[in-house]
Amino acid sequence: MIEKQQIKQMQIGVLCGGLSAEREVSLKTGAAVHRALNSLGYRTEIVDVGTDLPGQLKAAGIELAFIALHGRNGEDGRVQGLLEMMQIPYTGSGVLASSLAIDKIATKQMLLYHELPTPGFEVLKTPEEADRLIKNCRHLPLVVKPSREGSTIGISIVQSIEALRHGIDTAAALDDEVLIEEFIEGRELTVSVLNGEALPVIEIVPKSGFYDFHAKYTAGQTEYLLPAPIDASIYTQIQQVSVAACEVLGCRGVARVDLMLRENEFYCLEVNTIPGMTETSLLPKAAEAAGLSFSQLAETILLEADIDK
Ligand SMILES: Nc1ncnc2c1ncn2[C@@H]1O[C@H](COP(=O)(O)OP(=O)(O)O)[C@@H](O)[C@H]1O
Ligand SMILES: [Mg+2]
Repeated sequence: MIEKQQIKQMQIGVLCGGLSAEREVSLKTGAAVHRALNSLGYRTEIVDVGTDLPGQLKAAGIELAFIALHGRNGEDGRVQGLLEMMQIPYTGSGVLASSLAIDKIATKQMLLYHELPTPGFEVLKTPEEADRLIKNCRHLPLVVKPSREGSTIGISIVQSIEALRHGIDTAAALDDEVLIEEFIEGRELTVSVLNGEALPVIEIVPKSGFYDFHAKYTAGQTEYLLPAPIDASIYTQIQQVSVAACEVLGCRGVARVDLMLRENEFYCLEVNTIPGMTETSLLPKAAEAAGLSFSQLAETILLEADIDK
């Protein structure tokens, strides 16, 4: 860990934008973080990440990186690896945790190994495996996902064999590995974990009902319950499992775990190592409920910046 006084003297780059599908959200996160850190007296500037990131970092004299990129080429360990090579400390998870967490299949395998709850699943790597699954499919609905996308890109909830085939094609076009997951009919939760401690649990309630998970990305279409109205003993277990999920992946700084709750059983879907931090995102909401302002949250993440030993 680097001393706060030292960080105050450093030139900090807020890495955002980039080339992924989540560019716009990332730019908003970056702008909000930039404003917050500047208001606290840190020397920050925005770096809109292009294909010559090393050149950009050198030209701007960046000594520490606050990574505000989402999705591939940002959240997946590649930028982290580059910063390691350049000996530039950065916020959030390191190379391995980032690569594991972006990969929903690898994440679920780690969770299973550590006996943490996640929906039942199968992995498809070849068209033959897909054909076999389609032929032997007995239970619907299923959820079909590309292993390494975010923001529900390429995800289908399928209710028929035809939709299953179509869902597999969609996911396979985006990733070599396709995840077939048990559909959990229940409530959707998310838990942010900051430096090994769970923030209050948020329940996400799409107004237009139940299958329409796209609703949560349209303003006004979603209600957030914070703290989620859940029985106290289960609430605590959900927080503990979320902390453990981040721990087994080796996450650093902040991460956000998405879960489903069905009656009293809950299941981890995935871990996001660079959660959105626009002024209206879930992580800042949870932090605020725990008494941390947006600037305090940004500073807490900044002060954990490091490189692997
Ligand atoms: N197994 C599942 N059962 C029910 N709903 C699911 C399941 N998996 C995903 N979903 C729905 O799809 C959304 C996106 O899935 P998630 O695994 O979090 O991927 P990402 O957020 O990276 O797109 C979830 O927030 C949830 O609404
Ligand atoms: Mg998610």
